[in-house]
Amino acid sequence: MIPGARLIILGRQGAGKGTQCVRLSRHFVVPHISTGDMLRAAVREGTSLGKAAKAVIDAGRLVGDDIMVGVVQERLDRADARTRGYILDGFPRTVGQAQSLDDITGERPIDAVIDLDVPRDLVVQRLSARRVCRDCGTNYVAKGAERQPWICEVCGGDIQHRADDTPDAINTRLDLYEEQTSPLIEYYGETGRLTVVDGVATPDQVFARLTAAVEASRRS
Ligand code: AP5
Ligand code: MG
Repeated sequence: MIPGARLIILGRQGAGKGTQCVRLSRHFVVPHISTGDMLRAAVREGTSLGKAAKAVIDAGRLVGDDIMVGVVQERLDRADARTRGYILDGFPRTVGQAQSLDDITGERPIDAVIDLDVPRDLVVQRLSARRVCRDCGTNYVAKGAERQPWICEVCGGDIQHRADDTPDAINTRLDLYEEQTSPLIEYYGETGRLTVVDGVATPDQVFARLTAAVEASRRS
């Protein structure tokens, strides 16, 4: 049987968390829990969470810790996550969220926390070119010569520019990462739970590095 996993993938916006978590989720056969994807789904569906979060997300700011902890706790309580594990993408992103997650996962602690490291100037380039399927979330890179309307080859949905991938919102998000999320490197590092993986390589090469890092932290 393929062993499950309980993983946290940290990294700057545009580091490739979503790209790699889709692959890791298939590899370890565990759900990919992306708080960003959950919030965007709530916005599309017009739920009360979506209505409250839309302006915050579009401006590149962070949704409140209490709301996010509640959303994640509910998701981790579902049968698939309880039995096989999960890959968390985009959560935690403040020290407060990490402390709450430690409480939530007390009996079943995380196997590995990985920081997918890509420098700021490179993530700005990646985010500026990113386009995303509105329906299934598959990523594409815009080269400027795409036929319009641009249709997703996975599900047939519309490929769009994410509302928070504008220059202003990208800068706000990256500044918030330095202020609020980068302290997590120290938070997990000082308890020996962190592995840094270089995210500057092709997606296949980064994936091989990530699976090797997970196996190494399981052995240690
Ligand atoms: P979220 O959806 O999590 O966005 P993010 O953190 O800004 O991260 P991204 O999705 O932009 O980056 P990624 O690392 O997934 O990169 P990707 O794989 O797409 O959150 C959105 C918003 O929701 C937040 O701003 C906040 O408002 C709210 N939110 C979510 N969670 C929250 C929380 N916990 N607390 C509070 N608020 C929260 O890759 C980027 C591009 O690079 C793609 O085009 C891809 O094709 C390309 N690429 C990927 N890998 C490579 C590679 N190896 N080489 C070249 N190109 C690559
Ligand atoms: Mg993402």
